[in-house]
Amino acid sequence: MARSAPTFICQACGAQTRQFFGRCHGCGGWNTLVEQSGPAADGRRRRAAPEGAPARTGTGEKAAPVPGRPRRSESILTSVERPLQRLASGFAEFDRVLGGGLVPGALVLVGGDPGIGKSTLLLQSAQALAATTSVLYVSAEESAQQVRLRWSRLAPPGGAEPVGAGLQLLAETDLELVLQELEALRPAVAIIDSIQALHDDQLSSAPGSVAQVRECAGALQRLAKRQDTALLLVGHVTKEGMLAGPKVLEHLVDAVLTFEGDRFASHRLLRAVKNRFGATHELGLFEMRDRGLAEVTNPSELFLGHDGPAAGTATIVACEGTRSLVVELQALVSTTSYASPRRTATGIGINRLHQILAVLEKHMGLPLSRFDCYLAVAGGLDVEEPAADLGVAAAVVASYRDLTLPAGTVLVGELGLGGQLRPVGQLELRLQEAARLGFRRAVVPRGSGLGAIAAGLDLQLLEAGTVAEALVAGLGFDPAAD
Ligand code: TYD
Ligand code: MG
Repeated sequence: MARSAPTFICQACGAQTRQFFGRCHGCGGWNTLVEQSGPAADGRRRRAAPEGAPARTGTGEKAAPVPGRPRRSESILTSVERPLQRLASGFAEFDRVLGGGLVPGALVLVGGDPGIGKSTLLLQSAQALAATTSVLYVSAEESAQQVRLRWSRLAPPGGAEPVGAGLQLLAETDLELVLQELEALRPAVAIIDSIQALHDDQLSSAPGSVAQVRECAGALQRLAKRQDTALLLVGHVTKEGMLAGPKVLEHLVDAVLTFEGDRFASHRLLRAVKNRFGATHELGLFEMRDRGLAEVTNPSELFLGHDGPAAGTATIVACEGTRSLVVELQALVSTTSYASPRRTATGIGINRLHQILAVLEKHMGLPLSRFDCYLAVAGGLDVEEPAADLGVAAAVVASYRDLTLPAGTVLVGELGLGGQLRPVGQLELRLQEAARLGFRRAVVPRGSGLGAIAAGLDLQLLEAGTVAEALVAGLGFDPAAD
């Protein structure tokens, strides 16, 4: 029999070649190609039953494939229009990020740093799901005893006692055996913890390599779609901050969720990076307690200081998906003792801070290039949107001049390079959240058209066209005092 030609697969990007190269032609990485032997390298799986196992019948695996026929779009639409029966994970926060619950047959990747709480989140959700449907929890990293131990330690969402009726536990790392169990049990939901720990015997590369992750996820996906099992895959984040098996899995799955948080703080953020069944950038908030994760029902309180206004702090309203959060920013501006001043930012892009400092220097004549500037967002939240600009500028100026913002004031607005304030989206939502938390003044860009709404919320609306006007109105800043 002719020996099949080897295939080389890049461990970084998944590109395949028939010949060995020192450098991958796909991503340019050096020494990333690994030889892949056997027929599995071309993506087709051999399904060999283990020795001694009875031959499988009736699952359709060996039957000739039935080709899919085109269907009239109306007929497809009617089945889609039936309200999708989403499964509730037990956590309203998790359901929101999923777009209203877990869709049957969906493939969801949950990524995050090791130790952040992915297994805890999914085990607690499994507890809630198992009360109404069948769940298979495949633990490839921990033994069944370890999972059971954790299980008895956790409080299921909703406060009920753990019930294990619909939950099956499997501690297994061999893909073939996991597939067999999935096929035999046909659960409504299967959780694989984690995809990097699974391995396929037919591939020579190590578990966790791109080829393994891709092959394992692909085989699981094909089976899950066929039998309408919702699959939740746990994926670890690599040193570079990417979901391992880099972009390979993101194409394959229906939703990519990331679980993040400050390891030194107890709260955790669940975000949807991609979601075929819901909005992206949706945010779910949890707190890690001694009996597992609990939902945070009033998130703004997490990101607000509790000491009242202080010099160098400003409060903004950030929007994450459909949710608005009142967040406190703190700045420290002090005379520099270096040739080039130090700037650090936690929770806001450093380039954004540089830009805001440059605008303040140029358009308000503040000599900030002679000062160090440190900026932090309270509670470890990452605020990416430019609507935070005005708050950053106010915190910096407040620290520079030792001013305290009047209590109960929020600032929202994007800063243009010319010092002008630009309108921001979802302003009404932001004002509602500020009013709900007892804020009484809001500094916003001019032309918002929300005067009547603000009056209804008992909120004093201060509209400004430029950053200087906003700081005079909101902070009582005196431009001539330097
Ligand atoms: P885990 O879910 O194992 O993380 P991952 O699967 O993402 O690697 O969470 C482990 C961390 O959570 C660990 O540092 C201990 C902490 N933890 C609690 O604080 N309380 C709890 O009830 C549990 C189960 C874990
Ligand atoms: Mg884990």
